[in-house]
Amino acid sequence: MERVEEIKNQLQNKSAEEILQHLSDLPYDKVVFSSSFGYEDQLISHFIFSKSLKIEVFTLDTGRLFSETYSVFNSTLEKYKQAIKVYYPKTEAVEKLVSEKGPLSFYESVENRKECCFIRKVEPLKRALNGKTIWITGIRAEQSADRNELEIAEWDETNQLIKIHPLLKWTLEDVKSFISKNDIPYNSLHDKGFESIGCSPCTRAIKKGEDSRAGRWWWEDKDKKECGLHLKK
Ligand code: ADX
Ligand code: SF4
Repeated sequence: MERVEEIKNQLQNKSAEEILQHLSDLPYDKVVFSSSFGYEDQLISHFIFSKSLKIEVFTLDTGRLFSETYSVFNSTLEKYKQAIKVYYPKTEAVEKLVSEKGPLSFYESVENRKECCFIRKVEPLKRALNGKTIWITGIRAEQSADRNELEIAEWDETNQLIKIHPLLKWTLEDVKSFISKNDIPYNSLHDKGFESIGCSPCTRAIKKGEDSRAGRWWWEDKDKKECGLHLKK
């Protein structure tokens, strides 16, 4: 797609901070950033909030997040005093799911797990992205083989918009050291062996040498481990 190529060229050789500034300055785009309050997302929020960029920050509250995640959500509001829009799953859908299958259905099969992720994340994401033209994420290439093949800007066929990953080439060490130098609030679970943090029943700490996403849906095969937020059609 022509527009993606144009944006890719414009973003070439720009730092993450410059990328975000550039996107904020685009006159006709509706730009949003999705935050799960992980390391990477906190860094991007820091750039957006400290410069009051014209980029809406939103989060998908699945209803199953760690209390540590709510703490960093709150400390982010306190520090920057800027809005974070929250999307919840549809009440009727969650009521039906849990009434029919119980609160831990996701451990029983991949289908059940995907059903829960669809209700709690994918459907709310659709609403969050409705009418938007650019979606910024905190994805890094290092996180998985699939993510390693991504480009800084891509056409998202599912959501019909341009997706941008400003931290794509950053290493975990780059992110950690920036966070600590700039005193950015972060999820305290990162200090307890958690690297990639999602819902509490589906995330655990990892051991040294394990893949960065090994703690997500750890009971499933490696190749099934995406929740549907970042699937390619
Ligand atoms: S996931 O697909 O496995 O859940 P991951 O946790 O690696 O994704 O996060 C990658 C990016 O997806 C984050 O940087 C963020 O942009 C977005 N994201 C993931 N979970 C959420 C969430 N609950 N709310 C908003 N954005 C999210
Ligand atoms: Fe449900 Fe687990 Fe997916 Fe969260 S990560 S939406 S609890 S299956």
